[in-house]
Amino acid sequence: MTIIHMMEGIHRAIRADVARLETTLGLLEPGDRAAARAVHEAFGWTSALIESHHLSEDEVMWPFLARRTPDFESRVCQLEDDHVELDAALARVRAGLRLLARGSIDALSAATRRRLLEDTARLDALLRDHLDREAHLVFPPFESSASPRESAALEAAVMKHAGLRRVSMVLPWVLANAPVAQQRSIRSAAPAPLVAAHDLLWRRRFARRMAPLYRVPVRAALPAGAAS
Ligand SMILES: [Fe+2]
Ligand SMILES: [Fe+2]
Repeated sequence: MTIIHMMEGIHRAIRADVARLETTLGLLEPGDRAAARAVHEAFGWTSALIESHHLSEDEVMWPFLARRTPDFESRVCQLEDDHVELDAALARVRAGLRLLARGSIDALSAATRRRLLEDTARLDALLRDHLDREAHLVFPPFESSASPRESAALEAAVMKHAGLRRVSMVLPWVLANAPVAQQRSIRSAAPAPLVAAHDLLWRRRFARRMAPLYRVPVRAALPAGAAS
């Protein structure tokens, strides 16, 4: 697995989770606060994983690329700006979910839900733009400028930056959203102790935490090869 494969896997998982959230919100029964609480908690994990991915990019990957690719610095401003917009859009969605789960004025919940659906659609649109931009601006210069050794070193640096606690969610997240052929290549390239920990503990814990989101199918608008 190269660092670019890892990024592609994370991007696929991000697109899938936001699509799941839109579907799940559409299916929520009005006034079902227990279900809203469960979705709020599950999406809290997605949100933390997305923010952690932005941190790895801003603090580890972009500096690496800026050192190797002459004009990368001029492009990175747009990507950093995107992260600021996306973190704000994520915060709005989390706040809307919290209100839907814990707000105590029933008459307001229909308006809260409507606003939340709009905020989630906006987050989805921003993410699609950003992930397409990254695939265009980051993947080609990385593939042409980094040797396999540098790619492995960068991957190790990203994992160290994330820490084992975060990796214990990232690995099952990526695997749960990868097509079967990619699951195999991720598993064979990842360090054996991490795969063993995934199979023994992390996969089940991830499934438990994410169940309120992952029980709905991902809508067909995802790119070909994404999880269903
Ligand atoms: Fe990314
Ligand atoms: Fe990004």
